[in-house]
Amino acid sequence: MDFDHVWESVADVPGWLTEGQARMLWEAVLRLEPGATVLEIGSHQGRSTVILGQAARAVGARVIAVDAFVDGRLFGGASTRDRFEANVATAGLTDVVELVVGYSTKLRPGWDRSFDLLYVDGKHDYWTYTDDLRWSRHLPAGGEILVHDCFSSIGVTLGTIAKVLFGSRYVYVDRSRSLARFKLARPKAADRLRVVAQLPWFSWNVFLKVLLRLRLRRVAGWFGHRGPYDPF
Ligand SMILES: C[S@@+](CC[C@H](N)C(=O)[O-])C[C@H]1O[C@@H](n2cnc3c(N)ncnc32)[C@H](O)[C@@H]1O
Repeated sequence: MDFDHVWESVADVPGWLTEGQARMLWEAVLRLEPGATVLEIGSHQGRSTVILGQAARAVGARVIAVDAFVDGRLFGGASTRDRFEANVATAGLTDVVELVVGYSTKLRPGWDRSFDLLYVDGKHDYWTYTDDLRWSRHLPAGGEILVHDCFSSIGVTLGTIAKVLFGSRYVYVDRSRSLARFKLARPKAADRLRVVAQLPWFSWNVFLKVLLRLRLRRVAGWFGHRGPYDPF
């Protein structure tokens, strides 16, 4: 299946992933070798998982999907797990996608399986996100890490400033809106400067989020923001 068909197939799966971001996930998996493993933290109803899974099928890779299926209005709890499983089955990916139910921060200390690509889209506070980055110790040198809501979520952006801008393990590569790509390598000064260059876009997103919190959706609309959700 090509990307356009896969993107069309997730049109009815609710989630937070733009077409450009889906393409970025798709291409990251296509760069992997046969037999590779992708680990996703935060799968929700499977919108991103199906993209990763179809790309994994194309290269002979597999996907481990980690989600705690957090309760509440935003994420939906147990019924979200049912929808995730139904969406993976409808996509014909039950043999490619393995679901691991649990909190990423609780699973991480005991995890002992290596993987080749890490996609982080779980809880977006500073502590969880920076803990989720530590899953990267199971990646090979130069392995890629994709992070959703980077330079849009405050927690994820603060974590990126602390661990990527001021750290020594991750190089910022590029992004599609809030989906940022990093690789495991020692950053040079120019790599750090490219992180700094994303901060004006982060400030803009914070401005839009303030408007949304003040219930000024129409005003956010004048600035080009559509929908009830924070920019992603
Ligand atoms: C933003 S959604 C993921 C969206 C999904 N990637 C998509 O494309 O639609 C975040 C998901 O992370 C899960 N989650 C939140 N905190 C988590 C944690 N600490 N460990 C694992 N999953 C978590 C929630 O249950 C939710 O399904």
